[in-house]
Amino acid sequence: MRILAISGSLRISSTNTSLVRAATTLAPENMHIMIYTELGTLPPFSPELDGDDAPASVKELRAQIQSSDGVLICTPEYAYGMPGSLKNALDWTVSSGDLHGKPLVAISASPGGGERALASLLLTLQALNAKVAEGGTLSIFNARAKVDAHGNVADEATVKDLKAILEALARAIAGE
Ligand code: FNR
Repeated sequence: MRILAISGSLRISSTNTSLVRAATTLAPENMHIMIYTELGTLPPFSPELDGDDAPASVKELRAQIQSSDGVLICTPEYAYGMPGSLKNALDWTVSSGDLHGKPLVAISASPGGGERALASLLLTLQALNAKVAEGGTLSIFNARAKVDAHGNVADEATVKDLKAILEALARAIAGE
């Protein structure tokens, strides 16, 4: 199964991006995780730009979601919500309905766990009719301490939690 992973952070040494990279190595055997790298290149959403002649970067995002069996989102918290760049990407999928029924798991990672970011993300995913997996949400507290200088997850409990959420995604894709 093919998974598209989206980090909600544009920071070069982002903890969330490190967690997404770590997920690629922790995935079950039959799961292949591709990382979406163009979050920062998407134009600000406007209904004026939406439609069949949407910008190429938007078409590419939609194609990557469409060709995936499931989606993993890992986001920091900014001002009690998900980052605007992540919300912007999700807004681009409203009219195309790419996330409708799409199995998905959602992680927040920030010093305080990012539970408000996760809540705001889940509310948007509800509007998009995404299929959030049972057991498919996770808040990672003190996130920067869980990743070492090389971007590897250095905390056993976090490794276990990441493996568990990826297994939850696999089950949702299998329709279990
Ligand atoms: C933050 N951060 C933050 N953390 C939090 O728990 N609640 C919040 O409301 C905010 N707000 C916020 C605003 C801005 C402008 C910044 C720059 C940061 C902290 C942020 O979530 C934390 O640094 C994450 O670890 C960043 O994730 P990456 O970039 O390491 O993936």
